[in-house]
Amino acid sequence: MSAHHLVVGAGPAGRHVAALLLARGDRVTLATRSGRRTDLPGAEHLALDASDADALTRAAQGAVTLVNAANPGAYTQWERVWPPLAAALLTAAERTGAVYAVVGNLYPLGPVDGPMREDLPDAATDHKGVLRARLWADALAAHRAGRVRAVEVRGSDYVGGGQGHVSRVLPAALRGRPVRMVGAVDQPHTFTDVLDVARTLVAAVDDPGAHGRAWHVPSAPARTQAQALADVLAAAGRPPVSVRALGTRTLRTVGLVAPGLREVGQMAYQFTRPYVLDDTAARARFGLDHTPWEETCRRTAAAAGADVPARTSQR
Ligand SMILES: NC(=O)c1ccc[n+]([C@@H]2O[C@H](COP(=O)([O-])OP(=O)(O)OC[C@H]3O[C@@H](n4cnc5c(N)ncnc54)[C@H](OP(=O)(O)O)[C@@H]3O)[C@@H](O)[C@H]2O)c1
Repeated sequence: MSAHHLVVGAGPAGRHVAALLLARGDRVTLATRSGRRTDLPGAEHLALDASDADALTRAAQGAVTLVNAANPGAYTQWERVWPPLAAALLTAAERTGAVYAVVGNLYPLGPVDGPMREDLPDAATDHKGVLRARLWADALAAHRAGRVRAVEVRGSDYVGGGQGHVSRVLPAALRGRPVRMVGAVDQPHTFTDVLDVARTLVAAVDDPGAHGRAWHVPSAPARTQAQALADVLAAAGRPPVSVRALGTRTLRTVGLVAPGLREVGQMAYQFTRPYVLDDTAARARFGLDHTPWEETCRRTAAAAGADVPARTSQR
């Protein structure tokens, strides 16, 4: 009988994880509050609020993996919705014995000098970083106590299909419009292909010796935001557009009346200085490489609805 995995969240991360597991013949259930169907052949879909630990436990019975690929909403909601959701996921993994695999992010690290390595402490001081660090610390404590087997993978700004800072401005840029990107647009910044997030997570789940820690997702060499956008536009056969910086002072001012932008402004350190991921450990452990940048750019453009030239749309 094929292995069964319960993937909570059907955004870009959850869908890519599910696609990889289905492709190797495993059974996958994608659980979301809405129960919305994906176009993944063979995937099962379940409407479930994963904050309900009992309902989640029932759904996870017999699953070898419980994947946390959820994202419970706007930043302004995180303090309210993440803790009960993460607690229920951890409880369900403990009760069922499923490996608890978390799609994390880099917020727990906070601003660091030099490349972001996994051996740096989770030292964020902003509320979102502190929160995400605490959720992983809870899972890690349960792992260390022998109550669960947990592993987390952390990627940078998503490209290749996720909602990241390039895809946010891409629709306008594809129409030839000038765009504004957060912070400085000339600082080296790591972008992570969401497909590589999924590949790393599956590799980490499959490797029991890799559990009990966070791994950084192999990612392409850093580009500036302006370069990355130009690369994606080029993949779609479009010229670069004017890219101006949306400065932190502006974000702070607008943030006084727009809570969503205030939340983005708190993360501006990611864009005003080099934001570079060290992924050496995962490359060595799992033998993974990042997806070729050109292919990532093509998929990023295609995900935004661009007509990517057929000549370059094949691997
Ligand atoms: N976007 C990026 O650039 C980026 C970068 C690094 C890390 N990440 C991380 O990657 C993870 C996944 O993000 P994503 O962008 O793939 O997700 P997403 O597109 O925001 O989708 C989130 C999914 O979670 C589901 N969900 C939320 N609350 C739920 C609940 N209580 N019960 C069941 N399902 C629930 C949503 O479905 P319903 O609404 O139907 O419930 C949705 O399918 C997040 O932890 C995010 O922080 C993202």
